[in-house]
Amino acid sequence: MLSILTVIGARPQFVKAAVISRLIRSSSYQWKVHEYLVHTGQHYDDNMSAVFFREMEIPEPDINLQIGSGTHGVMTGAMLTELERVMIEQKPDVVLVYGDTNSTLAGALAASKLHIPVIHVEAGLRSFMMAMPEEQNRIIADRLSTVLFCPTVAAIRNLEHEGIPNAQPTSPSADQKAVFLSGDVMLDASLYYRQQQKAMPLSATLASLIERPFYLVTLHRAENTDDPMRVATIVKALNEFDAIPVILPLHPRTRKILAQQGLEFAAHIHVIDPVGYFDMLVLEDRCQFVVTDSGGVQKEAYFFDKPCITLRDSTEWIELVQHGWNTLVGANTEKILAALQSMPRYGESVQLYGDGHAGEFIVQTLLDIFAKEG
Ligand code: UD1
Ligand code: UDP
Repeated sequence: MLSILTVIGARPQFVKAAVISRLIRSSSYQWKVHEYLVHTGQHYDDNMSAVFFREMEIPEPDINLQIGSGTHGVMTGAMLTELERVMIEQKPDVVLVYGDTNSTLAGALAASKLHIPVIHVEAGLRSFMMAMPEEQNRIIADRLSTVLFCPTVAAIRNLEHEGIPNAQPTSPSADQKAVFLSGDVMLDASLYYRQQQKAMPLSATLASLIERPFYLVTLHRAENTDDPMRVATIVKALNEFDAIPVILPLHPRTRKILAQQGLEFAAHIHVIDPVGYFDMLVLEDRCQFVVTDSGGVQKEAYFFDKPCITLRDSTEWIELVQHGWNTLVGANTEKILAALQSMPRYGESVQLYGDGHAGEFIVQTLLDIFAKEG
């Protein structure tokens, strides 16, 4: 039996864990793998956390550390203290972390110091902007990891450039890492849950909003929201382009910052609270196109064959730009408006994120490497 301690804490990690945590408890794996699920509590509002567990049938976390919000140091420090305690108690064979949040960093660091092999799902991604908290978190997580599951070929190349070869030693360690091209668990999630969603009734708010053509916006990344100029520029550009209505499920971080700055959206922009994953799938399916600074939403636009305008200066998902699905506009009014006015542009039909079975590949590979008798 392989014992995995998984650390999650923020919204995109619930979507990723939904794939693997469900799989581990399926009849194929429940006798081979045991998972102890730790929620750091980084995200805690019902619509930022619990809704995902309910809808996506993610197992209840074994423990919620209830760390909550704070500065990077306060949050990550508190997580580190608590995660170390839980890992010492649980003695897992491996620790699994996803993506690039502060929960990822704390999970990888706590495990590494205890000499527990770290598994990083969504390894190798780079924006080449070290000022981003996510870039710092993912680089450190990759350096500390023993097994790195890369979603894309670009991620494999990024690791090679940093001296981490695309190799699969039989007994990997943090010094001799195993690197795999796994595909992206977010594609698995999108394919699986869109079938589940079809059986669900639409919420009344959403049903009336999606009657007419609209485009979907999300906005929350620190590089935009923590920079008053950037956030004001983005709001102004979105307000100016009123050719079709917008639906904007607003992250609580952005809501607070807009209120502090006294920024308001024009009438054609329908601001709603963050939505659950099923409603998000409906919005992505029914929209004309997507405008976002989210990492995950850039890819989900492509999963639904929707063009995307990305409110960032660079992206980790560079293949979407290369194949014509994504336009990077930063927080530049002219570029945003030009992209909006010339929309939609569709890219090439290519398979960029695997075959929708990244989860199975990851779990089976971990068993092949680490499984013990008994
Ligand atoms: C975090 C991740 C980011 C990811 C995002 C997903 C880090 C450094 N950043 O950013 O990479 O894209 O999650 O959504 O880990 N808040 C609430 N309720 C909640 C959660 C947050 O009100 O349930 C508010 C608080 O004011 C908090 C702020 O949002 O201070 C920011 O939350 P935080 O978890 O620090 O960062 P995110 O912006 O969510
Ligand atoms: N998401 C959601 N409801 C929302 C906004 C996003 O369910 O109101 C989902 C989205 O579909 C994707 C994930 O949350 O699966 C992405 O998380 P987010 O944009 O918060 O973080 P990022 O990917 O930028 O780290």
